[in-house]
Amino acid sequence: MVKKNSCVFISGKGTNLDKLIKNSRLYNFPIKITLIVSNNKKAKGLIYAKKYGIPYLFFDNKKNLSEIKILNEFKKRRIKLICLAGYMRILSKKFIMSFDGIIINIHPSLLPKFKGLNTFEKVMINKEKRTGCSVHYVNKDLDSGKIILKKSFLISKNDTLEIIREKTQKLEHLAYSEAIIKILNK
Ligand code: GRF
Repeated sequence: MVKKNSCVFISGKGTNLDKLIKNSRLYNFPIKITLIVSNNKKAKGLIYAKKYGIPYLFFDNKKNLSEIKILNEFKKRRIKLICLAGYMRILSKKFIMSFDGIIINIHPSLLPKFKGLNTFEKVMINKEKRTGCSVHYVNKDLDSGKIILKKSFLISKNDTLEIIREKTQKLEHLAYSEAIIKILNK
């Protein structure tokens, strides 16, 4: 199988990144993670870049010049898929339009419900019966691209915000890889 060169964008813990790297090493998983991008030099998830020997770059997309630089880097490395995994910056429309490949994101709610930040708080305040995560294509509007896959669970009455976060993350770790297989193993 020819694996697609892929890049994962992170800002924080990187548990989704870890799972994606592990799965990408399986023989029939359709991507190879050849680059990691972080906007945050202190992102904990960078330990996985070091652990697995994957090159990483910092990207501050507030600056136009760095967008051009990073797009050139993607071209050079033939990156065809970007997976946003807890990346806390919004990509510019220009960046999204200029990248020659697919960009996907994982979000900790059942989109279109609860776009943006503080998802778990919103789930609690709205007294949702069910929640979960969504993997979707990235377009210029926040958390609004076409859904690839969702996974959900029923909220029990004893579930605290922290428990809901943990349950959601567990599902995310399955959903992201499944979504990649769904779009690439056609
Ligand atoms: C995930 O819950 C993801 O849905 C959200 O940010 C979190 C990142 O977690 N966008 P991690 O860094 O992968 O552990």
